[in-house]
Amino acid sequence: MNILVTGGAGYVGSHVVEELLKTGKHEVVVLDNLQKGHRASVQGGIFVQGDLADMDLLHNLFKEYAIEAVVHMAADSLVGESVERPDKYFHNNITNGLNLLNAMVHNDARYIVFSSTAAVYGEPVETPITEDHPQVPTNPYGESKLFFEKIMARYDAAYGLRHISLRYFNAAGASPSGAIGEDHRPETHLIPIVLQVALGQREKITIFGTDYDTPDGTCVRDYVHVTDLATAHLLALDALEGKAASTAYNLGNGQGFSVREVIDMVEKVVGKSLPRAEGARRPGDPAVLVASSQRIMEELGWQPCYHDLETIVRTAWNWHKGHPQGFRS
Ligand code: UFG
Repeated sequence: MNILVTGGAGYVGSHVVEELLKTGKHEVVVLDNLQKGHRASVQGGIFVQGDLADMDLLHNLFKEYAIEAVVHMAADSLVGESVERPDKYFHNNITNGLNLLNAMVHNDARYIVFSSTAAVYGEPVETPITEDHPQVPTNPYGESKLFFEKIMARYDAAYGLRHISLRYFNAAGASPSGAIGEDHRPETHLIPIVLQVALGQREKITIFGTDYDTPDGTCVRDYVHVTDLATAHLLALDALEGKAASTAYNLGNGQGFSVREVIDMVEKVVGKSLPRAEGARRPGDPAVLVASSQRIMEELGWQPCYHDLETIVRTAWNWHKGHPQGFRS
């Protein structure tokens, strides 16, 4: 298939591109504005630097490369920033996303795999979270992703545009190939921050909140390996090509780890203890987010290969050690 990958130079995007290329059966066109992504993270295919705001560019790409399917990952994705700048999140994640959907309909591209998030559920009322859990996002980021899922449902009903939304829990780790990994600027995610402490690039790790209603008082999250996330996109594309109906799937390992447990695991992997401090809660953090991914396992046969936390942390550490300055190393 000829596939357009938006945001393909980002963390999850670059891992999706790597897996798509491995199959040897797809023509991959990556579109990324490189505001956050890294050109060096794109392992092959055709790279186009550009923005979803540019409607002419989108029409040209669909025509020139005869695009049949889209994996849409271009988005702003920081919860905290979305609270400060809802305008930015609604504009980039919805208005620009609509340009993409309109270009798809206009150019007869019929399938889209969409990068969604656990943030569509908001504060969990039961755990593990299934896809039928109430969707009450507590921040503009989660809202923007949920609105987009609803928009796609309307486009399916009206124009036959079939979609699969993949609701990621905590993406983590790095490609076992060693070629690509996580390089956000600024970095806000737990595992890379702890690894930066291990590399001596940060003085200490601050735990955001120790008074949650969890076994050790710190937040519990479901960490899922980025390559396992990537393979789910391939399964979703195959399903859509095979006439699957539009739907949404959670992607997690179904097992939660507390912030303290993650730091302990990083210490084990790097072989030394790391300075930690206890800080205030970060606004908007739910105490526990753990996925049930039964639906994608049963319906698409998704099977995570790197599900244990040690492997997740070890792959991340291998990449960070080899690339202490990220893609600028
Ligand atoms: N944390 C710390 N200290 C840090 C960084 C993080 O204690 O320096 C804690 C957080 O408070 C949280 C846990 O580590 O409890 C994980 O935090 P991350 O920032 O790594 O990930 P989040 O769970 O906040 O975010 C993830 C995805 C988002 C998504 C969100 C849904 O990365 O894209 O889940 O809630 F929106």
